[in-house]
Amino acid sequence: MLECQRAAFDLGDGVHYLNCAYMAPMSRSVERAGLEGLARKRRPYQLQARHFFEESEHLRERFARVLGLADAERVALVPSVSYGMAIVARNTSLLPSQKVVVAHEQFPSNVYAWRRLCARHSARLEVVRAPIDGAGRAREWNARLVECIDASTALVALPHVHWADGTRFDLAAIAARARAVGAALVVDGTQSIGALPFDMAEIRPDALVCAGYKWLMGPYALGYAYLGPRFEHGEPLEDNWIARASSEDFRGLVQYRDGYQPGARRFDMGERSNLQSMPMALAALEQVLAWGPERIQRYCSELAREIVARAAALGFVAEDEAWRGAHLFGLRAPRGVEVGRVSAALQTREVHVSVRGDAIRVSPHVYNDSSDVDALVEALREGCARS
Ligand SMILES: Cc1ncc(COP(=O)(O)O)c(C=O)c1O
Repeated sequence: MLECQRAAFDLGDGVHYLNCAYMAPMSRSVERAGLEGLARKRRPYQLQARHFFEESEHLRERFARVLGLADAERVALVPSVSYGMAIVARNTSLLPSQKVVVAHEQFPSNVYAWRRLCARHSARLEVVRAPIDGAGRAREWNARLVECIDASTALVALPHVHWADGTRFDLAAIAARARAVGAALVVDGTQSIGALPFDMAEIRPDALVCAGYKWLMGPYALGYAYLGPRFEHGEPLEDNWIARASSEDFRGLVQYRDGYQPGARRFDMGERSNLQSMPMALAALEQVLAWGPERIQRYCSELAREIVARAAALGFVAEDEAWRGAHLFGLRAPRGVEVGRVSAALQTREVHVSVRGDAIRVSPHVYNDSSDVDALVEALREGCARS
């Protein structure tokens, strides 16, 4: 069992940060790596051609390890989820009779690309709604998703947990159904990879894209895309020089090449070799690997159980444990309680969470402990009393 890791961060006294789903705080080791990386720009004459490649390769390898992959050949470095999804969309064609399946109210970066793709091919985007709140909501939502995937489905685009309230999607069952009908499965792993184990061998997504600044603990504007065999000879979004064959040879760059670097490197973003963010992301992934997504999830489970139980005593409702993340879950306010009042009480006590609709989104990590739970519960109690 992990111990509380607050000392690895600089969160400020009296601050109760339960909002990693918004943005991970920068750990001390990530900050150090960033400062050292930034300082390299002082003396560009010390940079060698290999510096433009080595860190990218290390980063690819670390992300592959987070996913439990044997090698990093199918990992591309991307700036955002929208970019990764755009790669997938660029390399997917639909028939007018086909459809793309998504869940209701997904994060926009995993929706707009499919709206455009469907519009371009006169195909249909099917948005699967959750049933109204109540017992069994997540189970029923998952059943609806599986049912919706049929022979006309070309692509299914989902997260592992819903960004707004942590509802868990049974990707193993959904993937099996998608495979059975020949549909591609694309996963937005932003709100799960790093904190919730993901079984690549069982789920076998065709693509998986993650922003790196939340549960992967890294800097903003650097993310990761796993692009499976479907994208083997795919077309990148841009024609940057470093993704082309033999780009290591700086003297031969104007011997323009049609070929690419091997594997998914062809999809890498331009100027990926960022002196500052690369070392930060490396330090971040090393930290995630040292803690391990399984242990992180287990650590969060202890906190989540206590939060959910004590909030339930005040009338707040959370999804069943099996159908939500422990690192990300929603607390739905009881009838008659104004979320705005709860929000104000949370702010007064420096309890940082997100409010999404009528749900309070709580997303703990290894820097949280029981003092954060106490502060959150007290703020909820006060919010109820003020309503
Ligand atoms: C589920 C999910 N996907 C993606 C993102 C970020 O998308 P992008 O990297 O395109 O800005 C977020 C940000 O909150 C998110 O919650």
